[in-house]
Amino acid sequence: MVTTESIRLRSYLFNYPVNRPRRLRSNVLIRNMVAETMLRPDDFVMPIFVREDINEPEPIKSLPGQYRWPLNDKILNFVDQLINSGIKSVILFGIPEHKDEWGSSAYDEHGIIQRTIRFLKDSFEDKLIVMADVCLCEYTDHGHCGIVKRLSDGKYVVDNDSTIELYAKTAVTYAESGVDVVAPSGMMDGQVKAIREALDRAGFSDVIIMAYSAKYASSFYGPFREAAASAPKFGDRRSYQMDPRNAHEALKEVVMDINEGADIVMVKPAMLFLDVIRLVKQNFPEIPLAAYQVSGEYAMLKAAIMNGWLDEKKAILESLIAIRRAGADLIITYFAKDVVAYLDEIERLF
Ligand code: PBG
Repeated sequence: MVTTESIRLRSYLFNYPVNRPRRLRSNVLIRNMVAETMLRPDDFVMPIFVREDINEPEPIKSLPGQYRWPLNDKILNFVDQLINSGIKSVILFGIPEHKDEWGSSAYDEHGIIQRTIRFLKDSFEDKLIVMADVCLCEYTDHGHCGIVKRLSDGKYVVDNDSTIELYAKTAVTYAESGVDVVAPSGMMDGQVKAIREALDRAGFSDVIIMAYSAKYASSFYGPFREAAASAPKFGDRRSYQMDPRNAHEALKEVVMDINEGADIVMVKPAMLFLDVIRLVKQNFPEIPLAAYQVSGEYAMLKAAIMNGWLDEKKAILESLIAIRRAGADLIITYFAKDVVAYLDEIERLF
């Protein structure tokens, strides 16, 4: 990777009129020849919401073009379309019928995600990588990502160590259902260690962990929380998700997750944290890095596109190229389905 230092040392080489950078931009073939950043269908992960108590797909208002899927042939057709268009991987989010204080539907072996994993794996076998988000916020009635302990005087804490045991339990039931990748997103300390140990103990040492390592307390998750009905009923997530003012703290989270057994680490959101993506990739080039273009980033682009203020294909591709260029190896994005269909147009559009 080019460092500031190496640019400075070589800067005497670049002088007009000997150098004319425009030579390498003069036509589309030349531009393609020297292009540094590529996007492949294999780089993308498509998020899918599955809802327990419906029979028809339900459009999500806050995410135009996205749906909550029922667990029937409708989701199978949808995933079949994804695979035919070149998508290799999906990440599942569940919307259960039953929510309680402990998020018990998350680790129910007949839960919505466990059944969806079996359904997709039975139908598509090795044609599809099935990932599942591991968290409690969609399953708890209070909407927090873990067990809430009430303190006196109306205060509360989200209890770390009892929560990670439930994440571990959830991950094992996903593994028993045939999941390929579990993705802990709750930002509890030690969550990767708890999950790795539990998976190994249960004989699932081959199940991959993709850790949401640097997940920020972002207002850009708003549309997702509407989609998954997972907004906290009181308080917020700032005592567990990272402070957007901190970049270097991401390295601490990433180091801890790697030491605890993460195979892939993640930065989230993506477009607003390109500097963090770059920082993590430069420091840990040997670890595959995922970035999540989150619901608010999708909604923001989509709204401008729907108003005719941005060019659809160019704006979406540019946003994804930016995430790749910053250093992400894989990108989780609600645009995945659409974008794989016109990836080859990059060579014409840029
Ligand atoms: C679950 C989870 C969230 C997202 C991914 N996993 C919601 C949250 O943390 O509030 C957000 C994804 C998006 O906004 O697209 N903890």
